[in-house]
Amino acid sequence: MKKYTIAVLAGDGIGPEIMAQAVKVLRAIEKRGAVKFELAPAPFGAAAYFECGKSFPAETVNICDAADVILKGTIGLGHEETKKIPVDEQPERGALLPLRKRYNTYANFRPVVLPKSLAHFSPLRPEVIGGGIDIMMIRELVGGLYFGDKERGVDADGRRFVRETLEYNEEQVRRIVETAFATALQRKKILHNIHKSNVLKSSVLWNEVVDEAAARHPQVKVHHVLVDAAATYLCLDPGRFDVMVMENMFGDILSDQGGGILGSLGLMPSACIGPEKSYYEPSHGSAPDIAGKNTANPCAMIGSAALMLEMSLDMKKEADDIRRAMQKVFAAGFTTPDLPPLDGKPKMLSTGEFGDRVAAGLD
Ligand code: IPM
Ligand code: MG
Repeated sequence: MKKYTIAVLAGDGIGPEIMAQAVKVLRAIEKRGAVKFELAPAPFGAAAYFECGKSFPAETVNICDAADVILKGTIGLGHEETKKIPVDEQPERGALLPLRKRYNTYANFRPVVLPKSLAHFSPLRPEVIGGGIDIMMIRELVGGLYFGDKERGVDADGRRFVRETLEYNEEQVRRIVETAFATALQRKKILHNIHKSNVLKSSVLWNEVVDEAAARHPQVKVHHVLVDAAATYLCLDPGRFDVMVMENMFGDILSDQGGGILGSLGLMPSACIGPEKSYYEPSHGSAPDIAGKNTANPCAMIGSAALMLEMSLDMKKEADDIRRAMQKVFAAGFTTPDLPPLDGKPKMLSTGEFGDRVAAGLD
């Protein structure tokens, strides 16, 4: 029997309650008898900081290093709570970005998927959605403004100033662009390259690298789209997109818009792929306002576990089964509070009930 060790970083806010559902689903897959998951929970985020003074403690680093793969929940607290943590230990800067950096998880896959049968979740009109939404957003995850040099100070006139650097070298661009072409080749052979080359020189270099890659992959039709225009098209005509590739900050913003056109960020899983180790997390935050209420939508978390099975553990069939099981719950008319009900009569499920039904659907 195959055996995998998974570092489980439940994190803050709704993280633990949605992670519990992903674990239920993994246990249901285990019951089929082909694989054993050794789950290694570890503190991460603000919870870890208050426990031991570090938001990515050495103990957690060791557990992640030793694991085959990492499954992460959500991190972060509300505005006031966050201020109790020193800026550099705040969970985004102190835990999440170091996690991305440590495993060099440069390729972030964010599927924006809504089958036609669930089109009523979307705020877009049915004629705009057509046959449903099926986009793979590919975001560069370890470069650009997020990781460039930063400086804060006071200038000669006594004014506070800040400077952040957007830096990419061609190799960093090439590897994510090649990932995008490889993905496009497996799908519709259409690639939308998202950029801002009318203003940013980083986009001029980025586009040069895309054009060079396009020459190596003539089977793929490349469209260059300015990031602001892409935001508009996502609302007006999402069907034109299949695979989209973009730098880190653009990807952060457009992928949240992806969640918006689906109807909820709770439907947005993600995969963060590195050369040796990868980790999987929902695209959304820790929603401190609803934490502990058992009302959060666990789909993005469960979907991230499915992506983990597919992309890191060679279990595509099981991943598809999980996604189908989630759709079946919705098709039966159930929703979570973040989504509109099918026919005006809400059949609302709690976080735990949703997880139970998905797990039961895998039997
Ligand atoms: C995301 C999140 C993170 C990001 C935050 C939590 C730092 O918004 O994964 O999209 O900006 O990358
Ligand atoms: Mg984001």
